[in-house]
Formats: sequence, C-alpha cells, structure tokens
Amino acid sequence: MLTPYYQYDLGILEDTLKAINRCTADRKDWHVHYAIKANANPMLLKLIRKHGLGIDCVSGGEIRVALENGFDASTIVFAGVGKAEWEIDLSLEAGIACFNVESEAELDVISERCALLNKRANIALRVNPDVDAHTHAGITTGTAENKFGIEIPMLMPIIQKAKADPHLSFVGLHFHIGSQILDTEPFIQLCKKVNHLQDQLEAQGITLKSINVGGGLGVDYDNPEENPIPDFESYFNIFRTCLKLREGQQLHFELGRSVVAQCGRLITKVLYVKQGTVKKFVIVDAGFTELIRPAFYGAHHKIVNMTSKGVLRRYDVVGPICESSDVFGKDELLNETSRGDIIAILTAGAYGETMASCYNCRSLPRSISGKF
Ligand code: LLP
Repeated sequence: MLTPYYQYDLGILEDTLKAINRCTADRKDWHVHYAIKANANPMLLKLIRKHGLGIDCVSGGEIRVALENGFDASTIVFAGVGKAEWEIDLSLEAGIACFNVESEAELDVISERCALLNKRANIALRVNPDVDAHTHAGITTGTAENKFGIEIPMLMPIIQKAKADPHLSFVGLHFHIGSQILDTEPFIQLCKKVNHLQDQLEAQGITLKSINVGGGLGVDYDNPEENPIPDFESYFNIFRTCLKLREGQQLHFELGRSVVAQCGRLITKVLYVKQGTVKKFVIVDAGFTELIRPAFYGAHHKIVNMTSKGVLRRYDVVGPICESSDVFGKDELLNETSRGDIIAILTAGAYGETMASCYNCRSLPRSISGKF
C-alpha cells in the first residue's frame, strides 16, 4: 500500500475493549461512552459498537458519523463550548441521551430550539471543577483559567434555571479534567470535588440522576509494545472506591485515547537520509499533516525502523512539510536507515487520523487493518 497510511491492529482494540468491559461488568449503573474525537475510523467504530460502548460527541459532524455507524442515539452524549443551532437541532431530532451544557447562554438556546421543534432535552451542566490534571497545557481542561464548563460559584442559579424550564430535564453534572493523565491523584481529586459538590447540592434540595466524569486516562507512549492495554483496573477502582454514588445514580465515562491509541500506527517510508554538519536527518513521506501531535503538543511517539536490522544510530526523523516544526523525533535511536526503509510511528491510534489536514495540498491518510 502506498505510504503514508495508518495501520490498525483490531486484535489490540478488541483486547482493550474486553479489558474495559471486564472492569465494569458488575456495574449496571456505569456507562462508558467512547470519545469519537479520538478516532472516527469506521473499522474501529464497528468493533467499539459491538462491545457495547456508547458515544461522546463534540460536534454535529461527530453525531452524524456515530449514527451512520449504527450507534443508537440514546447512547450519545454531546459536549462542546460552542454548539451551533443546527447541531442542537440535529441532536434533538435524533433523540440523543444528553447535552453536556457549558454555559447559561447555551442553556437558553437549547431551550429555544426545543420550544421551536416541540422537543424536550436532557441536560447535564458541565462543571469546571478547578482540578489540575498535571498534563500538557494544551490538553488540560478543568482549571479556572480554562474556557470549558461552568465554574462552581456560578452553578446554583443555572441549575435552578434548568430545573424550572419546561423544555429541559436537568439530569446531572458533567466533568472532564484533561487528557493523557497517568497519575491517579487528579482523578482522586475529581472524586473528592464531586462528593463535596453533591453534599452541597443535596443540602439545597437538589439531587442528581447522573454524574459524568469525562475521560482522560493516559497511555504508555514510551513502551507501547510492553504495555498495549492501559491500566483500566486502577482507573475504574478509583471511582469504585472514592466516588460516593447515591442510590440509583448513574455514572458515565467518556474515554477516548485509552481505547484506541495503542491499536494504531502510522506507517511511512524513508524518502532520503541527509547528512548535515551536526545532524543526520531521516526524511519520511509522512508529516504533521498525518500526525500533528509532536508538532502541536511536543508529544513523543516511539519510532521504529521496520526494514533494517543494522547497527543503532541517532537521527532526527522529519517530514516533508515546509515548516520547521515538522519533526517526529530528535536524536532518535534507529537501526541504520536508508532510502526506501519502512518506519512505524507507534501509539498513533488516538488523535492521529482525526487531526490530519490537507496542508500543502496533501491528501488525507488512508488506513488498513493488519496485525502488528
Ligand atoms: N470528554 C471530553 C469532554 C473531552 O473534551 C475529551 C477530550 C474526552 C472526553 C476524551 O478524553 P481522552 O479520554 O481521550 O483523554 N488532541 C489531544 C487530546 C485532546 C483531548 C480533547 N478532549 C492529543 O492529541 O493529545
């Protein structure tokens, strides 16, 4: 197949989904929604649906893709700070499970659209819990400096407004503190905040039918081959032990990266090896148009030469895009590399294909399924 392309190992995805279901099997009150923004490839969605996950969307486009791929609207939750009217209408017509509402202004517009279309919407308010996820600044979401959600001091009047609105059913609260979180502490902090907030709300006569704790569980980018399945057991155990769910209350999760990151690789070919005065460059045919995470967040993905068994040497692995930031790795240790070698960039299943662009008039990447 013509490089560059994404290769997905559906066996790894299946093992990952089984691990999630094993950890949650005893909890009928828990619901895992797959955050489709991480990867919307139909091959992956088919398997994710087969294993019974719902979907977390952040745009009308994602809702359309989820429906086209057979997900039931009643399993779809919809977040996002800037929902357009057509996206709200689409969600109301489809009958999604819940809007995760991010501001009072949005609440007003959803109510208006309901009145117009003669619909009723389930509403969860997205709370900014002011918990620092200790992750990259570009992917932290739950602090007061951040555009997401409603801050706790401003919450009460908005809840009252939602409860009083005849077009809306207030069902609960939604949280999401950030992404690629490997430390347990931020999730424990989140549980404590939710417990405290529930106590406060109950003291004012407000009960919640559901709580949504978002996503954020990280994966091992450094040792993907040794660690292909994230530690779901520890993750889910935090919520099992630290979160005080009330009788009959439903708990929702929105996992993206941890579901799909390890089942995808970006496969690219070496176009040239260029010797500089201080550096040796491996120039590959994939660039940040295919995988933007290194350029955008300074993220590092493990890079492997699939062709060569030669001695290990240091190279900067770079793409063909006309931007200095088009670098996959500096001083990477690779087997001696030559023109035509095939290079794999690992752990690229999440936020790879979905963030691809056509910059430099390039084509969007293709994909295949194949065992690693
Ligand atoms: N729920 C909400 C409301 C979110 O905003 C996100 C991710 C998720 C769930 C899923 O989070 P996950 O389980 O995947 O951590 N493009 C970045 C990551 C951005 C995450 C955005 N929100 C990256 O490549 O690292």
